[in-house]
Amino acid sequence: MLSIKIESGLNGSPIIPGDKSISHRSIIIPSISNGVSEIKNFLKSEDVMNTLEAFKLMGVRHEIDNNNLIIYGNGLNSLQKPKTNIYLGNSGTSARLLTGLLSSQNFDTTILGDKSLSNRPMNRISEPLKKMNAIIETTNGSLPLKIKKSKLINTEIDIKIPSAQIKSGLILAALNTSGQTKIIENSITRNHTEIMLEAFQAEISVKKENKKSEIVINGKKELVSKDIDVPSDLSSSAFFIVAALINRNSKIRLENININPTRIGILIALKKMGAKISYLNKRYNNNEEVCDLEIESSSLNGCELDTDMPELMIDEYPILSIAASFANSPSIFRGLKELKVKESDRLNLIHTNLLRCGVDCKVIGDDLFINPKKKYEIKNNIIKTDYDHRIAMSFAVMGSKIGQLEIEDSESIKTSFPTFEREFNKIGGRISWKELL
Ligand code: S3P
Repeated sequence: MLSIKIESGLNGSPIIPGDKSISHRSIIIPSISNGVSEIKNFLKSEDVMNTLEAFKLMGVRHEIDNNNLIIYGNGLNSLQKPKTNIYLGNSGTSARLLTGLLSSQNFDTTILGDKSLSNRPMNRISEPLKKMNAIIETTNGSLPLKIKKSKLINTEIDIKIPSAQIKSGLILAALNTSGQTKIIENSITRNHTEIMLEAFQAEISVKKENKKSEIVINGKKELVSKDIDVPSDLSSSAFFIVAALINRNSKIRLENININPTRIGILIALKKMGAKISYLNKRYNNNEEVCDLEIESSSLNGCELDTDMPELMIDEYPILSIAASFANSPSIFRGLKELKVKESDRLNLIHTNLLRCGVDCKVIGDDLFINPKKKYEIKNNIIKTDYDHRIAMSFAVMGSKIGQLEIEDSESIKTSFPTFEREFNKIGGRISWKELL
């Protein structure tokens, strides 16, 4: 269990680790390219290491030195049949992206995950892949998943669910398919796969019209290896940003943060609430926009976010809900359906745990209503996380304001942010862990 205390504000520059989405792609794409790629600042968390282990099992050689990784890629058709099943732990990104990639290989594979991942929907990726002739057996729509060797065909696929994981899985399948595949996306989702593939000289083009994108891939074109410098993760930064905003006498600086426009919903929302956040030194790194962020304690207002916001900040609603609990007026967050199928049912856990903390909140349909108070009386100090890292870190931040909360299964934080405790302690937080009895 984990609890956190902040006595006199947060001050300094915590180091935010590499972006999780880009780190996964920095293993997958170099592994099927020709040549050597050196990846700096990759995230050495459990989720990403599970992706790396999967490629090792498929014969891809790598070397690691601190947060630098070298991958020796041997081309689109170089992956070998793994000797065992592929275990992907808690990582939904690995599962969806690898299902796409593996469905166009010349061998059969089985992928497995932990309890949380084994409860997550996989039909969302297997069904569109079947339109390309993929042969995939799910276990009641989830993992374990058996992927059989198959020759995929070219087709046009219209993605119904807003999900970068589905889109990326389909793109990876299309890379090893002769001819042209067209993927139509009807909402904005993170585009790290498209950006990286362009840099690796894939034949991929993206046409955008309002929220709709048409992605065309010409398959069987060998990729050319490239070095990557992974920017720091905005989703991980969000815990520090909100902690600094809601705790008095705080001023922190976060360096080299990825501000890809498809990810910045959390910054838009917090700015709308009156947060003092400055963007400094905006620049590009491998076509990903980055900047340094400066954040100061702020008096926040509530805000109303419509159904088009989740696509820009799907992972940040847990921590945004904490910010909203300390605003001067109510907030409404609409259209949170996709939150129900993340590492946990996040909408339900945000609601349950805020109620335990004494926050007046309700869920109606897919919408969350938060009515903040000046002072909270904790009803139950045990925070239920269902092994969800973002719920654990969000309520650690909540605890820094309202007193000792005990966060269950907080070791899940290692899936995305193994240095969370060290970096918090460095800037004035006091985190303590207690083993479960
Ligand atoms: C991710 C996409 C998102 C996000 C996840 C990482 C990715 O999922 O929630 O943490 O790296 O593509 P969906 O695209 O399925 O919403």
